[in-house]
Amino acid sequence: MKIAVSYLKSKYDNDTTINLLEKTSADYIHVDLMDGIFVPQKNFQLKDIITLLKNRKKPLDIHLMVLDPIKYIDELAKLKPEYITFHLEATKNVLETIEKIKKYNLKVGLTLKPNTDIYELMPYLSIIDLVLIMSVNPGLGGQEFITDSINRLDELQKIRQDNNLNFEIEMDGGLNATTIKLVSSLDIAVSGSYICMYDDYQHQINSLLNK
Ligand code: DX5
Ligand code: ZN
Repeated sequence: MKIAVSYLKSKYDNDTTINLLEKTSADYIHVDLMDGIFVPQKNFQLKDIITLLKNRKKPLDIHLMVLDPIKYIDELAKLKPEYITFHLEATKNVLETIEKIKKYNLKVGLTLKPNTDIYELMPYLSIIDLVLIMSVNPGLGGQEFITDSINRLDELQKIRQDNNLNFEIEMDGGLNATTIKLVSSLDIAVSGSYICMYDDYQHQINSLLNK
């Protein structure tokens, strides 16, 4: 299982946090972008994000919690992220947005809120690289893991197997050393406050991986 670290809720400022994360074994930096419209919180200006994240060593896993995600792709592509993931609920132009991300040769992910029916993903599963299962309501770090996410993971793995599909499955929200054991078949686990609210990031990552 790979680990993506969200720095949304951290003991330190963003720049210090990312510098510290670059020294760990984390596989990805998970970048949460919220516009204050799709979710009530707003946490970025595009130019600040570009300044903060350009020329970083770790691959970036961008999670857009914004309305009309297509508007942000040209700018974000400058960061050469590994993945750009957006919410199914955030746009009527899902196909167009997928195409736009692919045009930059980036991997594309789709995600949905915990209460959205997982079968709404069906039309897109053969053309995307990743599904992100939200195991909390998007907006804040440090929330409690929603246990129904375990069933959603099972269902999605079954859909993947039955249809011979290849997308990866990631989960985001409330993952710590206890809850991660419930979803150990994930391809990628996102963890935020369990890592970044502590001094020793590597120690926390090891404990997630049961090392
Ligand atoms: C929630 C964000 C998550 C969050 C995870 O809206 O998408 O990435 O930062 O943080 P923890 O691990 O603290 O739930
Ligand atoms: Zn996220």
